[in-house]
Amino acid sequence: MTAKVDKSACIGCGLCSSTCPNVFRMEDDGLASVYTDPVPDADKESVQEACESCPVSAISIED
Ligand code: F3S
Repeated sequence: MTAKVDKSACIGCGLCSSTCPNVFRMEDDGLASVYTDPVPDADKESVQEACESCPVSAISIED
């Protein structure tokens, strides 16, 4: 599984990095990025949750 953040859509709410800090982090620009690729098995569920919870649907997942 690979997660991606669409930086043009992200509003920097920080929910993804709170939900799954092993995969998402907030950058100096105030937007989220993915720094773990591929997503470890143990984090797949929380990545899914972050994807579904992002208020602007900026996170996409590829299997
Ligand atoms: Fe951005 Fe959505 Fe995360 S708005 S900070 S990608 S939850």
